[in-house]
Amino acid sequence: MSDLNDIVEQIDLLAPIPAIATQILAKSEDPDSSMSEIADLIVNDPALTANLLKICNSAYFALPRKLESVKDAVTWIGLDQIVELVLTSSVSENFKKGLVGYGLGEGELWRHAVTSAHVAKLLANRCGVSQNKHLIYTAALLKDIGKLILGRFVAFSAEKINILVHSQGYSFNDAEKTIIGMNHEELGALVGEKWSFSKKLIYIIRHHHLADESARQNRETSLVYLADIVCMLMGICTGTDGLSYRFYSDVLRRINVSEKDLEEIIAQTSENRQKIEYLLKLF
Ligand SMILES: [Fe+2]
Repeated sequence: MSDLNDIVEQIDLLAPIPAIATQILAKSEDPDSSMSEIADLIVNDPALTANLLKICNSAYFALPRKLESVKDAVTWIGLDQIVELVLTSSVSENFKKGLVGYGLGEGELWRHAVTSAHVAKLLANRCGVSQNKHLIYTAALLKDIGKLILGRFVAFSAEKINILVHSQGYSFNDAEKTIIGMNHEELGALVGEKWSFSKKLIYIIRHHHLADESARQNRETSLVYLADIVCMLMGICTGTDGLSYRFYSDVLRRINVSEKDLEEIIAQTSENRQKIEYLLKLF
């Protein structure tokens, strides 16, 4: 078993998430804050504004005119999508790297993360979720952040982990915990604490594979879990751990998503894949 302090110390080696991103996320989760407060935060950060306008003026949005201000962007694209773009761009640096331990090449975890966030948004819309939409999007984007650190330790213990997963029926996260002493959900939650994420966001990262029965009662966590499952079923950069997690079918009933809904979301995501590929290159 690895020395857990050695693992936790590696959190400091990650490129920290910009403070503006956590401020925007906190505002977007706060029912008392207004949309204009979020727009003001963006306006007051010139580098962020310039980057945002570059993305908004790209062929991805195919707008009929050039946008010149955050106000323009909010009018033409909508604040919800602006917030998602800001949050996505804030984590791209870390997520684009390859992960040896999980069999993911450069850019593959990034593709999985952005597609998961896209799927989580579709699922949330399908379930009629009106609150915490940005929380669900961001949690789906960041759920595997612990892998950024744990990958090296998983690579070192790959043989032992594979025996537990393939010969003894362990889920991948249980095998990580047994062999390394910590799984990527726990480590991701520690990253979230260090970076001052909200308690709700940390909770979802900590439980996104729903190993704890209590987490299956949590709607936001269940949506992020399902988004991950959809990406795994679609084979979107799942790596060596793909499909080595438990499927809890009762979650579908609890959050009122039918198998037909899931099929439609898979079809919709397939249709959108080219657009997502284009988006990935913008960050
Ligand atoms: Fe995961």
